[in-house]
Amino acid sequence: MIRRDAFLPFTRPMVGEEEIAEMVDSIHSGWITTGPKAAKFEEALAAYNGVPHVLALNSATTAQEITMQVLGLQPGDEVITTSLTWVSTLSTVLLQGGVPVLVDIDPKTLNLDPAKLEAAITPRTKGIIPVHLTGLPVDMDPVWAIAKKHHLWVVEDAAQAMGAHYKGKKIGSDARSAMTVYSFHPNKNMTTGEGGAIAFHDPHRLGRIQRLRFHGIERDAWKRQSKEGSVHIDVEEPGRKANFMDLQAALGLHQIKKLDGFNAKRGQLFRRYLELMKDMDEVMLPWEGDRDLGHCFHLFIARILPEKAGLTRDEFVTELKERNIGTGIHYKPAHHHSYYRAFYEKRAHALPKEGLPHTDWSGDRLCSLPLWPGLTEEDQNLVVAVMKDVFVAARSKSRVTV
Ligand SMILES: Cc1ncc(COP(=O)(O)O)c(C=O)c1O
Repeated sequence: MIRRDAFLPFTRPMVGEEEIAEMVDSIHSGWITTGPKAAKFEEALAAYNGVPHVLALNSATTAQEITMQVLGLQPGDEVITTSLTWVSTLSTVLLQGGVPVLVDIDPKTLNLDPAKLEAAITPRTKGIIPVHLTGLPVDMDPVWAIAKKHHLWVVEDAAQAMGAHYKGKKIGSDARSAMTVYSFHPNKNMTTGEGGAIAFHDPHRLGRIQRLRFHGIERDAWKRQSKEGSVHIDVEEPGRKANFMDLQAALGLHQIKKLDGFNAKRGQLFRRYLELMKDMDEVMLPWEGDRDLGHCFHLFIARILPEKAGLTRDEFVTELKERNIGTGIHYKPAHHHSYYRAFYEKRAHALPKEGLPHTDWSGDRLCSLPLWPGLTEEDQNLVVAVMKDVFVAARSKSRVTV
């Protein structure tokens, strides 16, 4: 049996000495929470993505929750999205009293299928949340056209898409979307430990988002406590405690400079996997995108075909773990979690009549293989060799059982 000596995780953050030195500098400076470095990081994010305004927060999940509040989502309002996403895409709608209405994916991209959107629109529909899953952009032109026709807003879930581009422009840079949310969780293409950000074009949103991320107060603490600032505050509405620390920015300021290099390396490894697995009948390989849909290669999702592989995705994951290869499942479709199963049983109108056959099919088969910029070609070769070994063993076992 081919196996690795020590466990290989499916991803690993790439934090270097520059980030560490910058964090130490923050600690020595006496200012470790939201301060000048957080502001500088926001400027760097805005410049990188070509967006006029970016505000950083403690996570993409809180950022998404705030977008729903800023857009005035009311109880019973409907928002169309995909089930093949991290559950926060749905929960942030629900927490505002909204109803996430699910449409099926395009199996080629794993993203929501824009052709399915119009059938899901009702008089209660307020917006669309396309999710750029795996770092491969959704085809946005039809999404924006449908949104315009039906007077809906668009909020892009770009948690996995820092560095991806649509028709040559960075995700978040098109003003046809009301807001775009990024994540800097340790698994993402760049990290700040935890963290997220909201990008937007309308300057009128600035004050509101600032208030909602910090106790309903518009100015950050460091501005109040600086020599020029006033010590007096005024709470204008209830807000969250969701600010972004200078300690996180210390990581982010260096990570963002390295991001294009990270993504180029991810792309190289992604294509190398495609090459190494091109004759593997047991898996359906992911699509690498094209000039319009500029992938940032966050995840390499192979779909395990049990009918050909002789074992299910879950058995495959267990076999790889036995051989010290880590994998991920991105994701179990949201409507299969117990809360959402019960939720949609009571709200049949929030799912298409035919269900979500492509989401279900891919959801049962998908498996993320190890991919991060520091993955060696030697380890990549080993992952593929282990997979071949697992498939050979599964075939001979199924012959024995038959
Ligand atoms: C598609 C998607 N949306 C939202 C999130 C939430 O991001 P965060 O962990 O920063 O809250 C994630 C993180 O896994 C994600 O992958």
